[in-house]
Amino acid sequence: MSASGKTPPPRRAVTHEQSNGFATRPAFAAGAAFVVTLALALAARRWFDPVLLVCIAAALLVATGAFVLVRARREASSAYSEASAAISQSGVNEARMMAIIRSSMEAIITIDEQQRVVLFNPMAEQVFGCSAMDAIGAPLARFIPERYRAAHARHVEQFGVTGVSDRQMGRQRVLSGLRANGEEFPIEASISQIRDGDTRLYTVMLRDVTERVRAEQAQQRAREELRELSANLQKIREDEKTRIARELHDDLGQQLTALKMDISTVEEALDASASAQVREHLHGMRRLIDVTVASVRRIAADLRPVMLDDLGLIPAVEWLANDFTNRYGIDVERDIETGDARFSPTGATALFRIVQEALTNVARHADATLVTLSLRAAHEGFVLRIADNGLGSPNGGEPAGKSFGLLGIRERAHMLGGTVDIHTAQGKGFVLSVTIPAEAVQMQELQS
Ligand SMILES: Nc1ncnc2c1ncn2[C@@H]1O[C@H](COP(=O)(O)OP(=O)(O)OP(=O)(O)O)[C@@H](O)[C@H]1O
Ligand SMILES: [Mg+2]
Repeated sequence: MSASGKTPPPRRAVTHEQSNGFATRPAFAAGAAFVVTLALALAARRWFDPVLLVCIAAALLVATGAFVLVRARREASSAYSEASAAISQSGVNEARMMAIIRSSMEAIITIDEQQRVVLFNPMAEQVFGCSAMDAIGAPLARFIPERYRAAHARHVEQFGVTGVSDRQMGRQRVLSGLRANGEEFPIEASISQIRDGDTRLYTVMLRDVTERVRAEQAQQRAREELRELSANLQKIREDEKTRIARELHDDLGQQLTALKMDISTVEEALDASASAQVREHLHGMRRLIDVTVASVRRIAADLRPVMLDDLGLIPAVEWLANDFTNRYGIDVERDIETGDARFSPTGATALFRIVQEALTNVARHADATLVTLSLRAAHEGFVLRIADNGLGSPNGGEPAGKSFGLLGIRERAHMLGGTVDIHTAQGKGFVLSVTIPAEAVQMQELQS
């Protein structure tokens, strides 16, 4: 393959017809002379004439010589034409190869053992903004940002020895190229090698992946922004729920209690003449206030149990489990072992909401009779596991249509650097396991 990408013109092959035409002429002349001499001798009937015998011997000698000459020439000419055909075929192959290289949508650069460019196709010219004329003979390093040059040169050398590249080892990475104008850009490349005599040639095929990397980065950014937005919305929602729950519990609850005490005072102040009907009425008002207080507490607790903030995660989870059993008649076995962990408000809220959503799902989808709830401190962090003995889910709990419960659980776990695992099958119950690093949910000790 020539460096410039040009191919030598194919040599013309000499044909069999041409070579035979030249070679058969003397053989024919010698044969004719022999036949004529023999005919003359027969016509004159002079067999014993020594001159005639010498003539016949000479004619035979010439004919044999001509025959040997013709054979030799014929063999030589056929060997030559085979060689010519081979040369012309290899020329055609090379031309075909060059056409492919020239029209390739990938940049193709071939380098020698000294890592100097010997081939630079038009796409490489376009990608690197450098003509083949300038590139050929230049070190490959010219097209690699300086900080990667040494590592890259080592990689090519290592590839020369082992024949194994990073890509073949499944480590396809986005690398960096350097355009002639100094601009760096991301590339994806593969390398191959061939032996050319006693030297080695490496061919790098690469493509500019700037657009793809840009699109991936934009997608990643959008995903992170969505996560931040969702986290922020969740926080706002949680703050709002906390505020309303507090006001319902403290403000409204206290006022109702005060009202109840007032009614008791009025009842006590009534003298004996007060009618039984009035007394009954006041008694009814007190009962109604009790029921209203209970409703207010339930609504407030559903929004956010005050004990989550006042007493912490574990009492709040205990309360949630009891409340669940009271409401749905499903037992909840508990196994809570968190040592002396002190949960941060964010961590406690996340774990509480996960338990709440999992229990709601059991009530809605499982038709279970028993739930096992465990929260334990393990080596990898806190492991929360909620398992039921219900119907299970045929599609592994994958949200069908508009379901956001499990999605919300995943989102909360992800925000704290945790993971979620679901094990379920039709008729085999549903097991949700969430693992969250301890430092993400525990109160940070103040640095002294
Ligand atoms: N404990 C469970 N037992 C059986 N199936 C379950 C259980 N938990 C979840 N699933 C299945 O997983 C699906 C997704 O649950 P997810 O909580 O995301 O949505 P949802 O409960 O249907 O709706 P929502 O958005 O109101 O929570 C459910 O529709 C259900 O099919
Ligand atoms: Mg749900």
